Amino acid sequence: MSTTFKLDTSTSRANPRPQPMRRLSVPKIQGRKVDGVTAEPVVMLTAYTARTAQLLDAHCDMLLVGDSLAQVIYGLDSTIPVTLEMMCNHGAAVVRGSYHSVVVVDMPFGSYEASPEKAYESAAHILKETGAAAVKLEGGEVMAETVAFLVQRGIPVVGHVGLTPQAINVLGGYAARGRSDAEAKKIVGDAVALDQAGAFAIVLEGVLEPIAIEATKAVKAITIGIGASAQCDGQVLVTEDMLGMFDRTARFVKRYHNIAEQIDQAAQQYAGEVRERSFPGPDQLYQPKNSDISLIPPILRSACGNGQ
Ligand code: KIV
Repeated sequence: MSTTFKLDTSTSRANPRPQPMRRLSVPKIQGRKVDGVTAEPVVMLTAYTARTAQLLDAHCDMLLVGDSLAQVIYGLDSTIPVTLEMMCNHGAAVVRGSYHSVVVVDMPFGSYEASPEKAYESAAHILKETGAAAVKLEGGEVMAETVAFLVQRGIPVVGHVGLTPQAINVLGGYAARGRSDAEAKKIVGDAVALDQAGAFAIVLEGVLEPIAIEATKAVKAITIGIGASAQCDGQVLVTEDMLGMFDRTARFVKRYHNIAEQIDQAAQQYAGEVRERSFPGPDQLYQPKNSDISLIPPILRSACGNGQ
């Protein structure tokens, strides 16, 4: 798509300011898959801040406020400690920073598993607090009843199967899933169960490629691969991973940039200039205008080199 914004002047009473462009909707994303074929793959990246959302928005169809913010933003070991409040704060920032993409917010561990009612309460809270269009939750068949409960009550849901990081304490690690026949079958079955429950999209994370291809063919929902297959209906990556923010990433991450190196170089140059007193320089300083000299308090005149 074009990265040039067109001003959308058809304002509403609810939002009287003209927007740069109309936001995509969940039905528009769903409509990309026709008779099992997605001619235009869905582009998704994670975002946790307004500025990142601004930079990614024009290039993406969906922005995911992932609970991966645990590791990326908060330096936590896993996604387990993430709270609803954290997701709401970052979700609202991403909605404020975007005009075009469908914003999806992850439901944090412990906010939805106990019952469909608990999940509804948490999901409604997220949508009210953030203005996002959809929530994402982890788990397959076991979550199908909950997904149906949310969708039937007006909350669009993205499912997430395969490697599900919130289950780290059960899985024991972040290795790819589906190496046994039984596990492969289970993952495809999980995707089908979520599809039948009404999930409009399903993230397939860290699965053997044939599983991703089979699941993509088996469901009406848009499959979004991460460590899955280019034949999924779309792809997602953690933005900081693909920008090269971290030294170690999963095998499925492709680095499109080396932002960690660039930050390191910039910080090194800044530190050097501060230490040698060459920053701030003339371009970054405010000086009294000569014509205003009579307005400068005498005590400042000599410091400014205007001792008269
Ligand atoms: O939390 C997250 O960022 C995710 C993606 C990796 C799919 O769930």
